[in-house]
Amino acid sequence: MTNKKISINSDDGKSAEFEVLQGTHGPGCIDLTGLYSKLGYFTYDPGFGMTGSCKSGITFINGEEGILLHRGYPIDQLAEKSSYLEVCYLLLYGELPSTDEFASFSATIKNHTMVHENIRDFINGFRYDAHPMAMLVGTVGALSSFYHDSTDISNPEHREISAHRLIAKLPTIASYCYKHHRGLPFMYPDNSLGYTENFMQMMFSVPAQDYQHNPVAARALEVLLILHADHEQNASTSTVRLAGSSGANPFASIAAGIASLWGPAHGGANEAVVNMLENIYNSGETIETTIARAKDKNDPFRLMGFGHRVYKNFDPRAKIIAKLCHDLLDDLDGDQPMFDLARELEQATLADPYFQDRRLYPNVDFYSGIILRALNIPMNMFTVMFAMARTVGWISHWLEMHSDPEFRIGRPRQIYTGHATRDYPGAS
Ligand code: ACO
Repeated sequence: MTNKKISINSDDGKSAEFEVLQGTHGPGCIDLTGLYSKLGYFTYDPGFGMTGSCKSGITFINGEEGILLHRGYPIDQLAEKSSYLEVCYLLLYGELPSTDEFASFSATIKNHTMVHENIRDFINGFRYDAHPMAMLVGTVGALSSFYHDSTDISNPEHREISAHRLIAKLPTIASYCYKHHRGLPFMYPDNSLGYTENFMQMMFSVPAQDYQHNPVAARALEVLLILHADHEQNASTSTVRLAGSSGANPFASIAAGIASLWGPAHGGANEAVVNMLENIYNSGETIETTIARAKDKNDPFRLMGFGHRVYKNFDPRAKIIAKLCHDLLDDLDGDQPMFDLARELEQATLADPYFQDRRLYPNVDFYSGIILRALNIPMNMFTVMFAMARTVGWISHWLEMHSDPEFRIGRPRQIYTGHATRDYPGAS
């Protein structure tokens, strides 16, 4: 915190001072608590782009310089050296685990990988052609009806068990959504495998034959999970906090986050990127005409996988993922033309003043779809994969919110633009 203060004057001659709060990194924030009582104003900030909604010690982003830190550790170091479960521990508890702490955490997560048998019936109740994200939203919301023994949000032990359950069960539920969609039998988790390998086993194995995962593919997926684990107060995380701020249980709050993630401007972007690249590839449209369309204000088309609300530089995750994509396609002999096309598009935008002036760079989703395709994950599962990875971020924020002494129910205000008071016919 700083001693700096900002004065604001109202048009009726009142004046009030507001403290400038300073975190560990990043710009200061004017603490506008009491603005209305002192000056009679609210603030107007559509999309909350200028609003700090909470204090958080989990993730730091410097969008100007393209920096992403989890609990202080740079994302590139975590992607290279760490495992997804270790990152989960770090996000949840704030420090990297000791060997014993990690062993105990892994055992706890493994202990919770199975789901109640009735959840299998629940998923089977969805239409055969239901979108996996629709099933995921519904099923995660329904977890509170199966695990209500851990939904007392005032009890820290309940909160922790719910966090463990969510992290452990998401891969199982995600794979069941896929299996149901394909009409294939559900596979039980295999706790002798690591987190990512177990997910691959539940996704791709069938009872009729043995399944061996490819270690290069498993590592690529693991890195993808690490890169998507958290990203501070984005739309879905803010949704989880807002839903949870009313005291909603953790399963309902995470289901709200999954719903928010589904949109094409957020988690649905990687699916949109692959659709876009396929369209360009199949239609024979050139890079030039695609870019011209993206720049044309009369055309609603946007270049998917480009631009970010916070990053006005390279998304640091995009750099890691582009390299990962390259290595993986080499190893799996994968979708090289699609990758080449993506590279060409990236190079063309970097040289184009429209994208330079607006500081639009490839985001994490520009390459993640190509990787997921190379891993044989179908397109309608892309956002499910994102949700699986982000569950730890959401639940870490939900936990942090519940131990924050300044936490209050979220309740933004508005500028009312409707009718002024008027009489109901015959009432005056
Ligand atoms: N293609 C073409 N033009 C774009 C793009 C794009 N992808 N993104 C932004 N612009 C332009 C806008 O038209 C606008 O131009 P103008 O100043 O001439 O009006 C300018 O850049 C600023 O755009 P905003 O919409 O104000 O930027 P905002 O920060 O609100 O939006 C967003 C960010 C939603 C990510 C946007 O860039 C977008 O729609 N990108 C494509 C979808 C996408 O990739 N989403 C994934 C985000 S990452 C994630 O969720 C993990």
